[in-house]
Amino acid sequence: MLTRELLTLLRSTAEEVVREAGTLIHHRRASGVRVDDTKSSVNDIVTPADREAEALIVDLLTARRPSDGIVAEEGHARTPSSGITWVIDPIDGTVNYLYNLPAFCVSIAATVEDPDRYADGRRAVAAAVFNPRTNEMFVAAERLGATRNGEPIRASVDVPLGQSLVATGFGYTRERRLAQHELLGRVIGEVRDIRRFGSAAYDLCLVAAGRVDAYFEVGIQPWDWAAGALVATEAGAVTLGPSEHVPPGSDFFIAGSPGLAHQLRDLLVGS
Ligand code: IPD
Repeated sequence: MLTRELLTLLRSTAEEVVREAGTLIHHRRASGVRVDDTKSSVNDIVTPADREAEALIVDLLTARRPSDGIVAEEGHARTPSSGITWVIDPIDGTVNYLYNLPAFCVSIAATVEDPDRYADGRRAVAAAVFNPRTNEMFVAAERLGATRNGEPIRASVDVPLGQSLVATGFGYTRERRLAQHELLGRVIGEVRDIRRFGSAAYDLCLVAAGRVDAYFEVGIQPWDWAAGALVATEAGAVTLGPSEHVPPGSDFFIAGSPGLAHQLRDLLVGS
């Protein structure tokens, strides 16, 4: 178990780094955005700001924590000698960034190896998610709680399924979207409403703040969930995979209060 001092240090490092990177992407946004490259489909975009922010984050972390590892969305990777690996999304919500819609974030998490907790074999111990457009800073550290702009936050408590506001997201390929459409069909008639903000990290922070009651998605990546999942769980939510025996991860991810998350899982997996 990491000491409180180390957790506090990792959390403040995460906060400083996302604030610097968030300020950078905010300024770059003001001078316009272009698409630099595409990934899984023509709509899965990379902007110069994604690359510039990722390089800045890696430089800042390397200066502060040279022995830590790196796993980052746009390709930076380094094996740790300290046992800690930073999982980085320089802009989560890149399509919102392109369109100047206000749900995009810089998201980073300090993680340790844990074969059971999440499907990628890591769990976050300290994290920060910063939305520079709304000026919201979400931070968390394991056992130390979660805050939004310095104020403690809590997830909603067991809202009935029929009155729950549920966030979800969609991937970029046709096949993925069709599968997601089918899952959405199982849920949309059973809940208060659905929200699609366009940033999984932000969705998880909204669960943490009780501004949506739950979130589910299939097809997200470790950099999409690592930081937001810690913020959500430190605020009282649980994260679930498709069964008690399969951890949450790219194939299936739910976050919400325990009762609601389990009901949502029953709907989605069809039990
Ligand atoms: C995407 C967003 C979106 C989610 C997608 C992710 P990106 O990340 O988090 O909300 O639905 O699955 O790929 O591409 O903006 O970094």
